[in-house]
This record gives sequence, C-alpha cells and structure tokens, in this order.
Amino acid sequence: MSLIDNIDKKQLPLHIAIIMDGNGRWAQEKGEDRLFGHYQGVESVRNIVESSAELGIRYLTLYAFSTENWSRPEPEVNGLMILLANTIRQEVDTLNKNNIRLRLIGNIKMLPEYASRELLEAVELTHSNTGLTLIIALSYSSRWELLKAVNHIADDAKNGVLVPGAITEEVLRTYLTTSEFPDPELMIRTSGEYRISNFLLYQLAYAELYFTDTRWPDFGKEHLYEAIINFQQRQRRFGKTAEQVMPNTASDAH
Ligand code: IPE
Ligand code: IPE
Ligand code: MG
Repeated sequence: MSLIDNIDKKQLPLHIAIIMDGNGRWAQEKGEDRLFGHYQGVESVRNIVESSAELGIRYLTLYAFSTENWSRPEPEVNGLMILLANTIRQEVDTLNKNNIRLRLIGNIKMLPEYASRELLEAVELTHSNTGLTLIIALSYSSRWELLKAVNHIADDAKNGVLVPGAITEEVLRTYLTTSEFPDPELMIRTSGEYRISNFLLYQLAYAELYFTDTRWPDFGKEHLYEAIINFQQRQRRFGKTAEQVMPNTASDAH
C-alpha cells in the first residue's frame, strides 16, 4: 500500500519548498565523488516534481544552489552548472507534457552563460503551462533578495514612484523575487540538518517545517507523501488559540 492513500487531497499544501540537501555526503558514504551525489539527486528531483504534479500541488520551490555555494571548490561548482544545464535541456519536453511551468528565483546573472541560456529558454518554452509551477532557486539567498528589494524600494522612493510612509506588506512583497507566488505552507529539508541556510526567510514566516534524516538522493515519492501526511496532522494557528482555530477540539491541540 502506498502512503498516497492517506493523503487528504482537499488539504494539500498549496506551495511546498524543499532544501535538497545531502547529495555530497550520500556519495562520500559510498566512497564516490560528491558530484556523483548531485547526479543521483537529479533522479530525486524528477520523482518529486512528477509526484507533486500528480498530486495536484500548485507550487514547488526547489533550492538547487545558494549564493554561498559559489564558495565551493571550482570543480564541484562547474560540475553542478553543467549538470544543471544538461538536465534542463533534457527535461523541457517532459515539463511541457506534464503541463509544468518553470520559473527561476535568484541571481541568474551569476551563472555561466551556457547555463543561464538553457534555463531562460526553458522558462520561455514552458511559460503558458497551467499545472504545477516549478520554481528553482539558483544562486539564491534570502539576504541577497532582501537587499535587492531594499535598494529597489529606495530608488523608487527617490524617483517618486513610491511614497515612503505608504509601503505596506503588499507593496514590499511586489519587490521580492517570489512576488507572483503564494508563501510556502510546507518546507522540507533533507539530510538531518536543522537550519534554513538563507532560504526564503521572509516567505517561510508561517510555513510548517519538516526535517528528515533521509539524504536527498534517497528521497522518493513515499517520503514526500510522508511529509504531506505529517503536515496535514498539524494545527496551524497563525497566532490564534487552539479554540479559535478549531472550537471543539482544543484539548487535542499540541
Ligand atoms: C545539496 O547537497 C546540493 C547543493 C547544495 C548543491 P550538498 O552538496 O550540500 O550535500 P552535503 O550537505 O554536502 O552532503
Ligand atoms: C543549502 O544547502 C543550499 C542548497 C540545498 C542548495 P547547503 O548544504 O549549502 O547548506 P549548509 O552549508 O549546510 O547550511
Ligand atoms: Mg549540504
């Protein structure tokens, strides 16, 4: 029996964000090069994107490369860029077949030209799809994003486009790279690390966090179902009391 049968299809998280971690250790534990782990990690990406689309998840954000990851040894960074470009090229047809729209967040200008070209082309080729929106965070970090937003806001205020005292939460959101997407409701991190690593700091304010020891290359469809089932068992209170959220089940709240 698959865990999929235990998922309430009416209570799916609208947006799932995943920190895909543990590729390097997964490979090293097998006596292999870290890049081998990244190649295996692509298989997990395929599985998770496919199962998210099948389930009817609307938004999936995958943290693929952080601003800080540029500091890794050059061969690993180069290997990752080549893997990324090749994977995207190979997957465009499947994305279209599954009605998946690809979007990117991050400082794409930092990527080598061949990689950004492939990625931007894939975004263009999938832009009219209406199913799952797959958002890849690349050369992304939250502090980079917030700094960019603040600079942009300051420019617009100086140029009279914005009135300084009238900047609301809605206005601020329009300056973030995620302005078109709802906030993630479920954030998953694999590989047993309990941190956010500069990922969507603003947008994760009320996300349910799920951590698993499973390394990313071992993370398959059943693991995703397990995370969603766990999400569905939680009570999201958004600052209210349990009684306010669910008047008759206050004593069950945890
Ligand atoms: C995540 O796996 C993928 C990227 C950051 C690109 P890691 O490469 O961080 O794997 P570990 O954490 O070193 O095992
Ligand atoms: C976070 O993983 C970034 C990605 C998964 C792309 P890292 O492995 O780079 O994070 P730290 O260094 O353990 O915090
Ligand atoms: Mg890591």
